[in-house]
Amino acid sequence: MKILLLDAQACDVMRAQLADLLLDAVAFGAFSSIAFGLDRRQAQNYWQDVRMAVAAGTCRLLAASHDGTLIGTVQLTLCQRPDGHRRADLQALMVHSRARRRGIGGVLLRAAEAEARALGRDDLRLAAEPGSGAEALIHDLGYAPIEGVTGSHVVYTKTLLMPEAA
Ligand SMILES: CC(C)(COP(=O)(O)OP(=O)(O)OC[C@H]1O[C@@H](n2cnc3c(N)ncnc32)[C@H](O)[C@@H]1OP(=O)(O)O)[C@@H](O)C(=O)NCCC(=O)NCCS
Repeated sequence: MKILLLDAQACDVMRAQLADLLLDAVAFGAFSSIAFGLDRRQAQNYWQDVRMAVAAGTCRLLAASHDGTLIGTVQLTLCQRPDGHRRADLQALMVHSRARRRGIGGVLLRAAEAEARALGRDDLRLAAEPGSGAEALIHDLGYAPIEGVTGSHVVYTKTLLMPEAA
């Protein structure tokens, strides 16, 4: 398995596979916030928005690939607020239903953390639906829930140890 950092051109090349992956994730119970009954066109539009953010430099898209097939992705969205230069949000972690429970979700999250560290972003956030399979994984990687946040998701936070502080 390889972990790739997809640029805008790679998003174009992998457009069909990205749509397949999102459709699979939605079909297998994930992302009630994205859409129920998502169709292929909507899935492609979703990735088009991600592509634009990648092209604008506000999002890093990491992908897990095995034998040329995309089996997982996660997005690292870089906070653009003047006071948010250390913050990044991990979003839309997804692993194809056929490739789950082999450690790929964990590898993707760690790769996204390494990317955040390289960009000087040590203040990470991650939202997960309560009861989703992601919770144990997130907990194991050292994320802690932020108390008092209301809504359909639990928001987790983690402060990365940066090289100069190590
Ligand atoms: C959540 C998801 C990304 C996990 O990917 P994965 O590659 O299967 O995760 P890993 O194999 O790295 O899992 C590591 C650990 O997390 C926990 N875990 C992962 N999926 C789990 C599940 N469905 N139920 C319970 N625990 C789970 C387990 O502790 C697992 O270790 P184990 O397999 O040794 O028991 C994947 O199930 C997925 O794409 N789900 C749909 C999208 C989604 O919910 N994304 C989360 C958004 S935050």
